[in-house]
Amino acid sequence: MAAAEGQWVLMATGRTPTNIAVIKYWGKRDEALILPINDSISEISLLGGRFQSCLREIRKRARDFEDKEKGVKIKKEDWDKLHVHIASYNNFPTAAGLASSAAGLACFVFTLGKLMNVKEDYGELSSIARQGSGSACRSIYGGFVKWCMGEKDDGSDSIAVQLADETHWNDLVIIIAVVSSKQKETSSTSGMRDSVETSPLLQYRAQTVVPGRVLKMEEAIKNRDFESFAKLTCADSNQFHAVCLDTSPPIFYMNDTSHRIISLVEKWNHSEGTPQVAYTFDAGPNAVLIAQNRKTAAHFLQKLLYYFPPQDNDLSSYLVGDKSILGDAGL
Ligand code: DP6
Repeated sequence: MAAAEGQWVLMATGRTPTNIAVIKYWGKRDEALILPINDSISEISLLGGRFQSCLREIRKRARDFEDKEKGVKIKKEDWDKLHVHIASYNNFPTAAGLASSAAGLACFVFTLGKLMNVKEDYGELSSIARQGSGSACRSIYGGFVKWCMGEKDDGSDSIAVQLADETHWNDLVIIIAVVSSKQKETSSTSGMRDSVETSPLLQYRAQTVVPGRVLKMEEAIKNRDFESFAKLTCADSNQFHAVCLDTSPPIFYMNDTSHRIISLVEKWNHSEGTPQVAYTFDAGPNAVLIAQNRKTAAHFLQKLLYYFPPQDNDLSSYLVGDKSILGDAGL
């Protein structure tokens, strides 16, 4: 950050994860404040006009700052006069369309807060990130995160809390099958607005199904109970897509390949006797597959690549993060 006369630069860097919802957020009760109609739970995946409301909220909370070494003194009311340069990059394929905007917004809020000497806690920061994009509030933390819908009209209790950090259940392995890197036709924002207005199933889901499911999911995470975790994750993804179909006009986020991947996982789990892999799909056709451990992931990856051979022979270019799993899978 530099003063207008360019005499000094203050820098702050931040890193936030993208997140994948295992209990989905779909539907707002307040469009301006981005308040949801149900709680949701996400899991960390990989590090990786809405910025304005976040910027405004951070600026409101900016504090006096002094760096004696640099001879810099900024009064809280002067932050507004300074130029901010933002450089952001994703180490996650943006083309995959997997919550990279959630990670970006959360990172923006976190880092700007750091720069402007904001002292608010993570819950408060999550509530600011929420005003950029609902799901971004969950990316303030790593690990398993719950976005509590809250009850107040001003949204002050609609915040994210960390259920367990990233070390709690670290033998889970996430495989992301990029079915299509095309931009989705219906954005989450307009899709959920249509669902709120037209889908009777949505109301039933938010009021009758999700509250119990969230409690069960919290229990499954606490006990590292993969069977329950997988069943709840798959059921919630399927119900979310059922709500999309129940919307008028219907929204189709998954395609034939997504459906074939679901069948493959269901058959595999059935043949193993207990669930070994869970699937979940957000507002697009790409599959997020969560395996119980590395051995299962390697085994499943073999199967997946057999039925869905990638066009490119360089498999390592399909993997983000630890590529040694290809060796485990004998690939
Ligand atoms: C299907 O957070 O992108 O990924 O609040 O309008 O920005 P806005 O929507 P967004 O919706 C995400 C929906 C979802 C489910 C989820 O992440 O919980």
